[in-house]
Amino acid sequence: MDGFVHWTADSLEPLRKLLVAATTLKSRRDRLPKDALRGRVMGMVFFNPSLRTRTSFESLMARLGGHAICLNVGGDTWALEHRDGVVMDGAAAEHIREAAPVLSRYCDVLGVRTFAGLKDAAGDAKDAVIRSFARHATVPIINMESAMEHPCQGLADRMTIEEKLRDARGKRFVLTWAPHVKGLPMAVPHSAALAAASAGMHVTVAHPPGYELNADVMATARRWCAEAGTSFEIAHEQTPACRAADVVYVKSWGSAALYGKPDEQTASFRAHRDWTVALRHFGKDEALLMHCLPVRRNVVIADEALDSRHRVVVDQAENRMWAQMAVVMKLLNAE
Ligand code: CP
Repeated sequence: MDGFVHWTADSLEPLRKLLVAATTLKSRRDRLPKDALRGRVMGMVFFNPSLRTRTSFESLMARLGGHAICLNVGGDTWALEHRDGVVMDGAAAEHIREAAPVLSRYCDVLGVRTFAGLKDAAGDAKDAVIRSFARHATVPIINMESAMEHPCQGLADRMTIEEKLRDARGKRFVLTWAPHVKGLPMAVPHSAALAAASAGMHVTVAHPPGYELNADVMATARRWCAEAGTSFEIAHEQTPACRAADVVYVKSWGSAALYGKPDEQTASFRAHRDWTVALRHFGKDEALLMHCLPVRRNVVIADEALDSRHRVVVDQAENRMWAQMAVVMKLLNAE
């Protein structure tokens, strides 16, 4: 593994091994190899805010004797340019062509968070910023959520599902869209669908018409389901889809057709307020309620559901640390 940026078919066996490693690390939380990363440094480059991602990486580096440095682009460090051949007479004072190799001299591994711009779906699909870091860095890159994927979240989500359901294969995973107050990126729902497909689950993606996810990512999820002998469906009726689920994964995302039209996006969210997930969406006593967090209560998920026995959102967040610990140890040959 020379980085952890996007999931491909080649990722599947390494992912399985990472999950075994993460589960083992978690089970030995009081006997961690405290010096495994002694003298090793992780640089984290944030173009966007974070609570879990930053803290989970800092925590795991500290627990294994390493160190993490957090840079907030355009805040406590220079604004960065990623486009090649541009005249840099705007806000960006430094190009990733210099920043990535320089940071690679100081750090053993780099994490990058760079959300989708939500102006141009085709442009977002290129995932240009994280790819620029991967091209110009000389150390492994970890995707801490890019325009297209949040693979660390996906790994933690699959770990959580397998922890709770034991054998996830053949169980039903429903990713349901929910309303919000503003359009959000599609990276988390992409990674959630890939995680469930890679785990051998039946996958349903439920959303109102007009909220289609990236076609290439959905094709990959569909193919992985076919290879596992499970189903992959798109549903436009939320309640029956969710009530059949063993896992209800809730996420809001914006409509690509409404990028650049905030008033229309807001109106669309209002028109779909009945997609806010509530207890009536759970048809099975043991069904899991998942969300990557942060979540807006009573907009995305009603209190009655988020405070119910179904929720595993805090376990999901904890598992970010164990999953990422396995990733960092693998990338730094510290297993
Ligand atoms: N789920 C997640 O990535 O959380 P943060 O945005 O707080 O890092």
